[in-house]
Amino acid sequence: MSVEHKAKPITVSDIRARKGGEPLVCLTAYTSLTAVLLDDHVDLLLVGDSLGMVLYGLDSTLAVTLDMMIAHGQAVVRGANKPCVVVDMPFGTYQESPQVAFRNAARVMVETGCDAVKLEGGAEMAETVQFLSQRGIPVLGHIGLMPQSVNQYGFRAQGKTDVEAKRIMNDAKAISNAGAFAVVIEGTVEDVARKVTKAIPIPTIGIGASPSCDGQVLVTEDLVGLFKEFTPKFVKRYSELGDGITKAAKEYAEDVRARRFPGPEHCFGMKPPPKSKRKK
Ligand code: KIV
Repeated sequence: MSVEHKAKPITVSDIRARKGGEPLVCLTAYTSLTAVLLDDHVDLLLVGDSLGMVLYGLDSTLAVTLDMMIAHGQAVVRGANKPCVVVDMPFGTYQESPQVAFRNAARVMVETGCDAVKLEGGAEMAETVQFLSQRGIPVLGHIGLMPQSVNQYGFRAQGKTDVEAKRIMNDAKAISNAGAFAVVIEGTVEDVARKVTKAIPIPTIGIGASPSCDGQVLVTEDLVGLFKEFTPKFVKRYSELGDGITKAAKEYAEDVRARRFPGPEHCFGMKPPPKSKRKK
């Protein structure tokens, strides 16, 4: 499939240059429709592997494949005109070696037309981040709570002990020195997120990591009340679209069963019934 590589108004360099400036606004998008709806309001759209849970009903992000990320990356790039688009590298596609990571990340870049990839990991991934960054693949890091390491660390806030706080600081510095253009900090206590943000020259993008970060990211389906399996503490719901969809489906079902839908106005060549016979 041929992919359009559009020049976007907001580039990876623009994101990097926002360090310490106006907070970066980032949201996830998995579909073209969502990208179109968010386009004017965000600096960065993340095609997150959270789509495994949100769209596919999986228990974690571990079973998400490269082909899934590429298909959704293509859809989002088609819908996005302004923001920088970043696609997540799924579990197992980059940890083995910098060479394997490059091969898979290059596929994502070429086949989707996105601007950058994101990968999880700290000091242990620094060599890979450097390998990709020096070969034309911009990398967004991801430290703190790392959902792909759920079997090792669980889904719990990070940075509560001195050992964890030191590890997160060390990870942030390693990823930044390796050439990442920004780093997501997930589920990390405020004090650590603030110190990391001060210590590194690239923007920190927080999710459950306090307003001290240089920007914020949320999963859009959490923000608008579409995904209700669980609501992490750090999510603020700005809408309840899920309830709206359920209500619309219920009313549609009632109308179909009562033969109120479709009405003459929705049909081709159907005359409206005489006024006296019209259903209220
Ligand atoms: O997969 C995802 O959506 C993410 C964000 C939560 C940062 O990684």
